[in-house]
Amino acid sequence: MIDFVFQNPAKIIFGRDALHHLGAEVLRYGKRVLLVYGGGSVKRSGLFDQVMAILAGGGVAVWELGGIVPNPRLSRVYEGIDICRKAKIDLVLALGGGSAIDTAKGIANGVPYDGDVWDFYSAKATPKAVLPLGTILTIPAAGSEMSYSSVITNEDGMLKRGYNSVTNVPAFSLLNPEWTFTLPPYQTACGCVDIMAHMMERYFTLVEHVELTDRLIAAGIRTVLNNAPKVMAKPDDYDARAELMWTGALAHNTLLHTGRIGDWGSHKVEHELSASFDIAHGAGLAIVFPAWMKYAVMQHPKKIAQFAVDVMDVPTDFGNDTDTALEGIRRLEVFYRSLGMPTRLADVGLENADYAALANRALPNEEATVGEYIKLTRKDFVAIYELAK
Ligand code: NZQ
Ligand code: ZN
Repeated sequence: MIDFVFQNPAKIIFGRDALHHLGAEVLRYGKRVLLVYGGGSVKRSGLFDQVMAILAGGGVAVWELGGIVPNPRLSRVYEGIDICRKAKIDLVLALGGGSAIDTAKGIANGVPYDGDVWDFYSAKATPKAVLPLGTILTIPAAGSEMSYSSVITNEDGMLKRGYNSVTNVPAFSLLNPEWTFTLPPYQTACGCVDIMAHMMERYFTLVEHVELTDRLIAAGIRTVLNNAPKVMAKPDDYDARAELMWTGALAHNTLLHTGRIGDWGSHKVEHELSASFDIAHGAGLAIVFPAWMKYAVMQHPKKIAQFAVDVMDVPTDFGNDTDTALEGIRRLEVFYRSLGMPTRLADVGLENADYAALANRALPNEEATVGEYIKLTRKDFVAIYELAK
């Protein structure tokens, strides 16, 4: 196990009663709020009206930034920063999923910064201050409600980039599994794939003696494997929705990262797809992750074989590490398909995409690498896209 610092200051208020805490949480920070939300799901479900009524009841003035799209764009972050500065906003409140939350994070970090907020995403600067940030989560997926990350796409070149900072961890997040009953099956499935991916990125490590976090991660993934089919069959299964919602937050709040080094190559390979072709991040991961695993087996089969046994229930006497690992990957793909997820680029019409162009955009030159379990160069990106065809 390697040395680590663990800190996650997010306050989580979880359950059917979560919204009743909204007024008190907001009023800790002030009476001027920017509310950031997506394309309309919260209006259709009635949650938006409930939130507005609570804020009005507390004498809170609300500025709105709605219509945030999946794979959220930098221009909306700029717009939000402008509103906050002019209106002297006290708190940025995100209502929705990772896209609304990541936009809110960009805004909250951008307001006190003199330069261009994109500096944070392009690793030119690190934030020193942040406006208070709260979230009301409607989809378990990105884990942004507790994560250190914000991921934004710059329309200038469609560059999808993220950065990690403690300033991105929300001051509070409200999580009520009932708010996820309205999720379409496709979005539910995308969320489940992303939650699993956040745990798998950490599971595949070369660091040894990480038994506790290995076991916690296996338990987290198995919780998704067990509960995803339940919510697909019965969207208002509160207990199954609750398991997924809490797993989604814990998957990415860095607890499962303690003492180990995560990989994150699959996320980088996927982000190029969702940036260029606007596919859902979770759907992209269902295609990329199994391909990355098949590629990684060639270098380091052991941990993937352990995953096959501990998570995918491949028998311990199935065969050698490589065969065991490949059987685990096969079972993972079967699971993704059972949720209606694509597992090949051809499933989303991208079997003839320009993979070299994607790789060239992800990495600055031929020598640069991403990933830790295996190091990926541009050439490896292309090989993984080819495997995923
Ligand atoms: O826009 P609306 O109308 O709200 O609809 C959304 C959207 O179409 C819909 N939805 C959300 N809650 C709903 C609902 N529909 C019905 N009922 C509900 N309760 O679902 C769609 C997807 O929403 P989005 O916010 O885009 O989903 P997600 O949470 O998966 O966020 C994806 C973004 O997060 C980034 C991804 O790359 C992507 O840009 N990520 C952020 C991370 C982070 N900040 O830590 C880590 C992740 O790895 C990821 O990269
Ligand atoms: Zn993700």
